[in-house]
Amino acid sequence: MAKKILVTGGTGFIGSHTTVELQLAGYEVVIIDNLSNSNREVLDGIEKITGIRPVFVEGDCTDINTLHKLFTENPGIDGIINFAASKAVGESVQKPIMYYRNNLNILLNLLELMPVYGVKGFVFSSSCTVYGEPDQNPITESAPTKKATSPYGATKQICEDIIADFIKSGAPIKAILLRYFNPIGAHPSAEIGELPNGVPQNLVPYLTQTAIGIRPMLNVFGNDYNTPDGFCIRDFINVVDLAKAHVKALERMLEDKSDEALEVFNIGTGNGLSVMQLITAFEKATGVKVPYKIVGRREGDIEQIWADPKRANEVLGWKAEETIEDTMLSAWKWQQRLRERGIM
Ligand code: WQD
Repeated sequence: MAKKILVTGGTGFIGSHTTVELQLAGYEVVIIDNLSNSNREVLDGIEKITGIRPVFVEGDCTDINTLHKLFTENPGIDGIINFAASKAVGESVQKPIMYYRNNLNILLNLLELMPVYGVKGFVFSSSCTVYGEPDQNPITESAPTKKATSPYGATKQICEDIIADFIKSGAPIKAILLRYFNPIGAHPSAEIGELPNGVPQNLVPYLTQTAIGIRPMLNVFGNDYNTPDGFCIRDFINVVDLAKAHVKALERMLEDKSDEALEVFNIGTGNGLSVMQLITAFEKATGVKVPYKIVGRREGDIEQIWADPKRANEVLGWKAEETIEDTMLSAWKWQQRLRERGIM
């Protein structure tokens, strides 16, 4: 019988791509999402790609009664992937209480109910933000975590600690923390992708919106960093590759491939790319020039960080496969699709 997975935040950017990969791998998916940062049409996109419409519950994971109802009406859930969270770094500085309340309550509710409904595996969306500015790159999972520079980052660290404490207490669950680097791109079909709310804060949506003419200019934050070309360096990971890591993580827990109840994996390519190298890759892949200007540094930016994904490669059996050009092309196709649909 197909294993059943609850994907919280399943109509969001990473959640929707992961739902597609889960369904293609034969899992049954139940999505819960409050649509605060996504919309129902995402379900059409998922169905177009996979031929299957996931079960959808519109609801908020901060409400434990909604979750009780969900587990009762959808019995036999084997695993949870928790994407539901507030995720804008800048907004979290303005609204810390909202960020702590939302992100922590979602996690606490889900963990508390796992033993009640016999759910075995939990995948948590964590972030390389837990490492802060690394002492050396590439960074491994055993590198020390550093004090978070935003409430958003703090919620990721606290959630990681809560999961660890719950497992230490003997809770009958397994968990895998996936520390994502910089997820970018879209499904190659352009049926699903990223839908930023308002002015994008992240580089790639800002870049594609500039390339299509929504924004006059991409501001590049700083060219005086201590890096080979002076620009910040990141590990840009294709969202479909990232989605596949979740399938591997679930498989590992649900098929008891490990004796460890809690594991951590870096999910990145292992290649650091500068902001300017990314812009160049976009122009090469699409033939479209991006108007940009170099401005001052953005406060709080890390200078350089990229993953050592060896553990994920060897233990999880997962590896990033997409080239940066194909990834940029997918982001561009998605931006063009949004234009065709009159959304942006
Ligand atoms: C990347 C680089 C910017 C916009 C953030 C979160 C992190 C994570 C991923 C998720 C930086 C530069 C950006 C622009 C620019 N997780 N840039 N012009 O800051 O690495 O990480 O997203 O939710 O926790 O902190 O990503 O895409 O914002 O920036 O020059 O208009 O691009 O300075 O060097 P970041 P980003």
